[in-house]
Parts: sequence; structure tokens; C-alpha cells
Amino acid sequence: MSALSAQGLTARYPGQPVSRPALLDVDLDLERGERLLLLGPNGAGKSTFIRVFAGLMHAARGKALVAGHPARAAREMVGVVSHATFLYDELTAAENLRFYGQLYGVPDVAERGAALLERVGLTHAAEVQVGRLSRGQQQRVAIARALLHDPPVLLLDEPDTGLDAGAFGPLEELTTSGERTVVLTTHNLSNGLRLGTRAAVLSRGRLVHQQPGLSSVDGVPLGHLLEELARA
Ligand SMILES: Nc1ncnc2c1ncn2[C@@H]1O[C@H](COP(=O)(O)OP(=O)(O)O)[C@@H](O)[C@H]1O
Ligand SMILES: [Mg+2]
Repeated sequence: MSALSAQGLTARYPGQPVSRPALLDVDLDLERGERLLLLGPNGAGKSTFIRVFAGLMHAARGKALVAGHPARAAREMVGVVSHATFLYDELTAAENLRFYGQLYGVPDVAERGAALLERVGLTHAAEVQVGRLSRGQQQRVAIARALLHDPPVLLLDEPDTGLDAGAFGPLEELTTSGERTVVLTTHNLSNGLRLGTRAAVLSRGRLVHQQPGLSSVDGVPLGHLLEELARA
């Protein structure tokens, strides 16, 4: 069984024409431990793909399955890092992790939170209110939050936006350890190539290329292909 499977997946926001949904008939399977770099120009549907698998948005048609379960019923298997940090500004970093850990039923939540804050290099800021942290530090807390329940599937929507360069190492290590299945988007192609094991390209909601490896698509270097799609 695939760790993650899109089958004829179609998703539409209210107000979008039926003929032009955010995602259209996407078929894609990831095996356990595969890390997909999801590419495509702005508006291609990358965040929508992640939202559906995060259980935050309904499929209009088709299926989004996590280990065979509908994504909306599999949220405890999924960790999400996106532009929205899902953190409470008035709580400290440690309190945020404790709050979410309890929500997820994480055992030994204080120790787990502390260990993750250490891994993202934020032990010194554990007792600081999140609203007082820099954007990069907040993003580090968000990464720790997403990993609290040790999810087998990680969805990373531009996780490196606003992240200082020094934090990419821990993100890479946490992402690539433990056979996690990952879907990743990023504006930074070199980060994407470091984290991903394969790639797919969305354009106007359709999956236009799938690539088992990461250097080129049909002989065209990925960077060139992206520039081409951005102009289309
Ligand atoms: N909340 C929303 N409401 C309406 N349309 C949206 C919303 N979010 C995204 N869209 C539209 O859906 C399409 C796909 O967007 P998105 O998944 O955010 O693309 P990407 O992440 O690849 O830039 C775009 O046409 C975008 O304008
Ligand atoms: Mg996006």
C-alpha cells in the first residue's frame, strides 16, 4: 500500500470555475520513505495539494489517501509545516509544544517538546513568548510542533521561507530521518534538491511531469523547465 496516494484528485475553492479547479485529476503514489519535491509556478496547486493531504480541504472528486485512509481521517499520521505557523503568540515556545502535544496525546510531552526544541536549536528560547521570537525562530518552533507526534508523513509547504540558513541543517536532518514520507514545496531549488528523492511538476492544477530522480525532466534540467513553465 502506498504511504500517500492521490487518485484522480480534484480540488476546487469556492468561486473557482468547474473547468479550472486548483487541482485536476492528479494521480500520484509515494512509497514509504520517498520524499517528493513538488514543483510548479505560482498558482499551480502545490499548496492545495498539501492542504488536501493535511486534511484541511475536501477533494471535490477523487481520493487523497494516507496509508490507505482518507486524509481527513489520518491527521494523526501527518505533520504539517506551512507559511501559517499554527502557533499561539502569547504562549511560550515550550507551552505551544505542550498544548499541541496534549492535543495529539503525545506521551511525555514536556520531554519530547524540550528534545525537539534542542534539535532545532531553540533551547535558550523555550520560555520566550512566540510572539516575541523572530520569524525564523517561529518557523523553527513550527517545525518542532509538526514533529511532536513523530508522524510518518510530513507535508512541508515552503518550510524554508523566513528560515535562517543555520536552521536548514536541522530541518534536513529531521525530515530525512526515520523513513518519513515527505511532500515538499520550496522556492529554493537547491534546498529542494537536497531534501527530495524524486520530483513532480504541477501546472495549472495538473500533474504534468513525474520524475523518479532529481536532476532533469525528459533531459531538460529542472531549473530550465521551471523558468519555461513560469513564462507559459
Ligand atoms: N483560498 C483560496 N480561495 C480561492 N482560490 C484560491 C485559494 N487559494 C488558492 N487559490 C487558487 O487556487 C490555485 C492554486 O493555488 P495554490 O495551491 O496556492 O498554488 P501554489 O501553492 O502552487 O502557488 C490558484 O489559482 C490560486 O489562485
Ligand atoms: Mg503555495
